[in-house]
Amino acid sequence: MKKNIILLLSMVLIVGLVAGCSGKNTDPNKKAILALSFGTSYSDTRALTIEATVDAIRAEYPDYDVKMAFTSQTVINILLERDNIEIDNLKDALDKLKKEHYSEVIVQSLHIIPGEEFNVAKEELVEYQDSFDKLVIGNPLLNTHEDYEKVILALESQMPALAENEAVVFMGHGTHHPANSTYSALDYMLKQEGYNNVYIGTVEGYPLLDVIIDDLKEKNIEKITLMPLMLVAGDHANNDMAGDEEDSWKTVLKKEGFSVETYLHGLGENDGVRALFIEHLDEAIYAEEVAE
Ligand code: CO
Repeated sequence: MKKNIILLLSMVLIVGLVAGCSGKNTDPNKKAILALSFGTSYSDTRALTIEATVDAIRAEYPDYDVKMAFTSQTVINILLERDNIEIDNLKDALDKLKKEHYSEVIVQSLHIIPGEEFNVAKEELVEYQDSFDKLVIGNPLLNTHEDYEKVILALESQMPALAENEAVVFMGHGTHHPANSTYSALDYMLKQEGYNNVYIGTVEGYPLLDVIIDDLKEKNIEKITLMPLMLVAGDHANNDMAGDEEDSWKTVLKKEGFSVETYLHGLGENDGVRALFIEHLDEAIYAEEVAE
């Protein structure tokens, strides 16, 4: 009996020492998923897209505490000052999880392409590797060739049936980052799969709208539906795509003689898109086990 108690005490001591040496003070029962998006200051679309995706993740992973963080400090600041809503950036969110002794943290990128936002997030995780027993990040929406195929099916579900003189033009964000080529790759695959009148443009990268207008005219397109290729239908969708200003896509296309419809729903409202984010999350959670 006495022997057992001594054995137990020494085991407790050893476990304590090991935990102390690693510098970690983690609780194996505390696991979190951090849904990381650019964010939006538009609350209606935020609820329908980002928060709805977070809810879908919560339903899928009952063993995890699911939290939300934004990569845009500008959006975070606007929400705090204007609406008194507090949302963490990635570092703040990780600091809190560390303080609360989480052992496992899975960050899921809700970005569309593996661009700047995603890669900066990946780099930020490096400093936190020692703070958790497991810290990984799930890929954004468009990563592998299979992702593109799944995204095309998801887009199909929200597109109208197109007559020969009708087209859909998606507005992607666009970036100076090399991942800007994602947009053209998706456009190419759409054409390969028979969506000849579906185009991917960008608001801040390549291709801009003027490149697409030339193609639309060549094909004698008369009617266009504009859709955001972004998680949310926020500032870019409401203003740059569907706004009444001189330089919005809607205004420019109307001036060029097209009739224009606008679809103001972010990809976060699309079931197929949410399902693909959850697939990526699953891959992030089980990646290590598969690799071993
Ligand atoms: Co922007």
